[in-house]
Amino acid sequence: MKVDGDAYRTIWPAVDGRAVEIIDQTRLPHSFETVRLETLEDAAHAIRAMLVRGAPLIGATAAYGLWLALRADASDAMLARACETLVATRPTAINLKWAVEDVRATVAPLPEGERAAAAFRRAGEICDEDVEINEAIGRHGLDLIREAHRAKDGRGPVNILTHCNAGWLATVDWGTALAPIYKAHDEGIPVFVWVDETRPRNQGAGLTAWELGRHGVPHKVVVDNAGGLLMRRGEVDLCITGTDRTTAAGDVCNKIGTYLKALAAHDNGVPFYVALPGPTIDWSIEDGEQIPIEERDGREVSHIPGRTDDGHDTAVRVTPESSAVANFGFDVTPARLVTALVTERGVCTASKDSLRALYPEHATAA
Ligand code: MRU
Repeated sequence: MKVDGDAYRTIWPAVDGRAVEIIDQTRLPHSFETVRLETLEDAAHAIRAMLVRGAPLIGATAAYGLWLALRADASDAMLARACETLVATRPTAINLKWAVEDVRATVAPLPEGERAAAAFRRAGEICDEDVEINEAIGRHGLDLIREAHRAKDGRGPVNILTHCNAGWLATVDWGTALAPIYKAHDEGIPVFVWVDETRPRNQGAGLTAWELGRHGVPHKVVVDNAGGLLMRRGEVDLCITGTDRTTAAGDVCNKIGTYLKALAAHDNGVPFYVALPGPTIDWSIEDGEQIPIEERDGREVSHIPGRTDDGHDTAVRVTPESSAVANFGFDVTPARLVTALVTERGVCTASKDSLRALYPEHATAA
């Protein structure tokens, strides 16, 4: 996507060939800054501290993280340590484990002298594949928005509610949930997006709003609890979110608060779509309750970060010092509340049979 006229992906090899570069998402929306990752630890830190985030992007970063590790030491011991370190950074998004396993399987059979170059090549392919996948999700999701637009028969824009950030910043490019919105907007279909702020890290307020604004897509940021009111008032035509891990039976794990939006959508007859690339499907489990839910530092709840009008970063405490806090990163929306899954291979119901029909190579899984 374009930032101030320049085309960016969220991760790319540095021109000097000695690092991989990323956009530091902890600095957005206030400043656009890029960071070089030169070591395994740099990559692990970028994922853990959420300089990069979003399921597909943390997978891509981990893939390059293996290259950085193997470049320094291509032994079996380092390969094992690097895989373990990267997988331990964040537990919920399956793309991370998928990418690490993929690169490991590529390099493990090779002589040590060839491993780093092979990891670098495979990481690049994973990035290119992610872009292609998300573009295809965009095309399939566009059909749903087109249909919603036809159904409105000229009565205003298609009003879409999204949660967290599943835009290009969460992937290598395009995004998942936002890809159909970008395509619809580019095609001249009037769309309007309700952006959930997504406490505690504000990926909606800080990242989705920033992305949509740069692309010229009309939107408004609302507090996380506004969705119910908007749906009851008929001000949401459809919801679309991303996911960090979807089970083989279609249970959807995504940013905390997604489930409540799906419940409200169900109660109000609003379609609830989830956009996902194939690598986000965990074929080894069917029940979403088996997905590990990340719990992060309580400071993300007790303090709200921001920037003062004179440009200083700050964090304001909003809880009494004596109150304990809990910080759950994700929740699970059962398949029965999901109207359809939008994948790179097409749209399907959130069910084991439909998923297996779209991905027959996994028909024997789980
Ligand atoms: O904690 P985050 O910001 O990594 O969470 C991201 C999400 O929940 C996204 O919705 C999900 O990764 C899908 S991204 C295409």
